[in-house]
Amino acid sequence: MSDTRNEPSLETIISLAKRRGFVFPSSDIYGGFAGVYDFGPLGVELEKNLKAQWWKKMVYERDDIVGLDSGIFMSPNIWEASGHTKGFSDPMAECRKCNTRIRVDKVLEALGVTADEKMSDDEINTLFDAHRKEIACQACGAHDFSRVHKFNLLVKSNLGDFTEQGSAPSYLRGETCQGIYVNYKNVLDSTPVKIPFGIAQIGKAFRNEISPRQFLFRTREFEQMEMQYFTKPENEMAEYEKLREYRWQSLLDLGLQEKNLRWKQHNNLVFYAKDAWDIEYNFPWGFDELEGVHARGDYDLTQHTQGSGKPLDCFDQETAERFIPHVIESSGGVGRLFMAMLFDAYREDTLGGDTRVFLAFPPALAPVKAMVSPLLKNKPELVEKAREVYTALKKDIPQVMWDDNGNIGKRYRRQDEIGTPFCITIDFDTLGETPELKDTVTIRSRDTATQTRAPIDEMIVMITTAVHMNSFS
Ligand code: GAP
Repeated sequence: MSDTRNEPSLETIISLAKRRGFVFPSSDIYGGFAGVYDFGPLGVELEKNLKAQWWKKMVYERDDIVGLDSGIFMSPNIWEASGHTKGFSDPMAECRKCNTRIRVDKVLEALGVTADEKMSDDEINTLFDAHRKEIACQACGAHDFSRVHKFNLLVKSNLGDFTEQGSAPSYLRGETCQGIYVNYKNVLDSTPVKIPFGIAQIGKAFRNEISPRQFLFRTREFEQMEMQYFTKPENEMAEYEKLREYRWQSLLDLGLQEKNLRWKQHNNLVFYAKDAWDIEYNFPWGFDELEGVHARGDYDLTQHTQGSGKPLDCFDQETAERFIPHVIESSGGVGRLFMAMLFDAYREDTLGGDTRVFLAFPPALAPVKAMVSPLLKNKPELVEKAREVYTALKKDIPQVMWDDNGNIGKRYRRQDEIGTPFCITIDFDTLGETPELKDTVTIRSRDTATQTRAPIDEMIVMITTAVHMNSFS
């Protein structure tokens, strides 16, 4: 086995993801639907495992954080109060020749020019005009774009709107955290939590992204994992530092390689934010945002107090004063983490003269934990014993696959490519051909491609233990 290589291109990962049933383009047989992806049989397992690990870190391992599952639809007044109906927009321009739309801040960024989100229409137009000549339409090559205007990203619906003209729209949520802010008082009143405490939620969010790009990185439908932590004002920044450390360590515990992660501080803070940092992952196009940790002050609860007319303040027993809790947030996308995991786990080495591809997922995240197969599928006694082992293993670990197709080498390669950490083979020694090896099986390790032999019950304990650990080892 040669040295392993680990620098897949975006195209390599997109192709593997489709070929092996991780991710399919939406509406594939109809030519696709931009900004939406479907998770296939293996993708849904990896996604479930990532969400389960996040929940474990953010809820089960914390006494001060509880969960929530709020609706995708909420009162449109919430999006007014939060500022989304007015300010949740990106700058857009259209090609006058072919109508292709561009997200102006991203196009300028590619030229090394920063467009601040707080810029007025005139300011961004002046900046854009200064660089127009350098910007060609990617679809038709023309250098002929319209004036820049701000495009609101909220996705409208007619749920509960019977006006026919759509004049009273409701919105699909643009971020999950608004459901947390508006339920914060309900949680405080109905559970034993006390300030400081957090509320965690995983769920879908929708944004009318102008130019969805880079596979799962920027999509129009995506899932967020968000936790909002409510603190006394004077403790906000200390809690913020703790949360930053906690999130960094959580990503390492998940198995991501530290060399592929880095912190980036926001240069242009929104007016209410005290501080904002992103954890970036080293994607093939460079370091880019994986998740954010933000100190949001009392902005959210103040806005919803004003919007709803309901007081959202708390009573401080020590000072006998009322205060509005400050919020620190951890916010990440499931799709971005999913993609980072695929890049991070991808390996190529040379085995028996051929290039081998394998995904070195930690067992806890692998979609399939083990594959069981009889050495030969035309020997009923081997098949019967293998089925027995398969059933026994499946009792403890449901994500076990049966495979008796093709020769054993091909089966191993198929499992390597989907990241299955262990392959169990039942051979004639398992049946007792060598008496001292009766009821033992071979366990082939994905990462080293080596085999060991162990009794069936020991193999089950070994695999179960590995699956319940969080590390690559
Ligand atoms: N509540 C704060 C918030 O929503 P954000 O930076 O807009 O902040 C948080 O989003 C995270 O959600 C991002 O770090 C990213 O992981 C994910 N995300 C945001 N927009 C996305 C999109 N269009 N496609 C996929 N993931 C997205």
